[in-house]
Amino acid sequence: MNVQITDTILRDAHQSLMATRMSMEDMEPILPLLDQIGYASLECWGGATFDACIRFLQEDPWERLRKIKRLAPNTPLQMLIRGQNLLGYRHYADDVVERFIQLSAENGVDVFRIFDALNDPRNLETAVKAVKDTGKEAQLAIAYTISDVHTIDYYQQLGRKFAEMGADSLCIKDMAGILTPNKCRQLVKRLKQVTGLPIIVHTHCTSGIAQLTYQAAIEAGADRIDTALSPFSEGTSQPATESMALSLKEDGYDVSLDVQKLEEAANYFREVKDRYLENGLLDPKMLTPDPRALIYQVPGGMLSNMYSQLKQANATDRYEEVLKEVPEVRKDLGFPPLVTPLSQMVGTQAAMNILTGERYKMVSNEVKSYLLGEYGKSPVRIDEAFIQSIVGEHPRIDDRPANHLDAELEKLKTEIGSLAKNDEDVLTYALFPQVGKTFLEEKYSLAAAKNDVNEIVKIFGYTRG
Ligand code: CO
Repeated sequence: MNVQITDTILRDAHQSLMATRMSMEDMEPILPLLDQIGYASLECWGGATFDACIRFLQEDPWERLRKIKRLAPNTPLQMLIRGQNLLGYRHYADDVVERFIQLSAENGVDVFRIFDALNDPRNLETAVKAVKDTGKEAQLAIAYTISDVHTIDYYQQLGRKFAEMGADSLCIKDMAGILTPNKCRQLVKRLKQVTGLPIIVHTHCTSGIAQLTYQAAIEAGADRIDTALSPFSEGTSQPATESMALSLKEDGYDVSLDVQKLEEAANYFREVKDRYLENGLLDPKMLTPDPRALIYQVPGGMLSNMYSQLKQANATDRYEEVLKEVPEVRKDLGFPPLVTPLSQMVGTQAAMNILTGERYKMVSNEVKSYLLGEYGKSPVRIDEAFIQSIVGEHPRIDDRPANHLDAELEKLKTEIGSLAKNDEDVLTYALFPQVGKTFLEEKYSLAAAKNDVNEIVKIFGYTRG
């Protein structure tokens, strides 16, 4: 049996371990070798890469994508995209979603892994259609979470719905590392049975069981797993590619990765890693598993966030109470998956409920918008009296949230004006208005300065060393 591997070294691995700070400079020299390893795909774009490129690295994310494509032309390139949110923090109008996907495909993306924080299929519709129009792979991802309603049957229905929408493959996306081997086995079997589609499992080592989960996934018939080259594996990242490949090969699976080249690539990244340990971007703390995620069934990142918030409020002694309040808030809010932005919303609400001594005395604007339906549909219907008690008679959205958004691409073009030299620039601005604008200003003034130097060199006949 064949097992395919996607390597996350260029995206999730460094996003999970060191806030997505790996620069193109560190990727470039090794790309031709990565291209020869035999990966099913290289995950390299989306998630926070775009944001980190323009905010911290002064790199044009579109240029990064084109470069990766040029240097690794034989391996499908994969991106992660949050449905109607694309890579930003709000819902975009359909015309922006369509243009973004078109241009991502043109610039090099072959596999689009699309998910929605609430698993609301309506927030995926436009993205899926747009990907299908480009002829690229539409991989729909189930955001995995644990609650009374997130049963195997629930995920089965979701998988079936995704298949009907035209998914080319399905991913079980366990961003928190809380998928146990037992649940994974059941899920893979069931999704395979009802959809017949290729099944990909994505997990993190956060709680210390990812390798067991992958073993169970493959034994249950999963087609592909996501791993990371060893220097950037484990901890909050994925299991090590080399170790998984060797272990699976010995078990008789056909893993068509070049082991020799894997080792060469790992050697390269070991040096890269040392540099990030030295400059402090990679905190060794990230490398230790945190099984509390399994005990409390909430993501490790959310636990540490809540703890630091309580610390700021001088209330770490209420931590246990807040922890117990989390499942209560989640129940009131219709059991949303604990992923961004819902994990922050639920965590903060739980803390406010405990610290103010009265449940829902204070409610954030985000939770109010959520209750008005602006994020999409909650997994379970929320009690009407509860909604009324918080948002009163305010008008609600009960259809697809993006139906309420007017086309906005032309408006964005007008706003950014001549600062955008092409539609890629317009989208950079659309996704991150402030940071994007500053980035474009700097990019083009730098380019202009460079051109001047070139002019001077030409005029004076200097050879530049
Ligand atoms: Co991930």
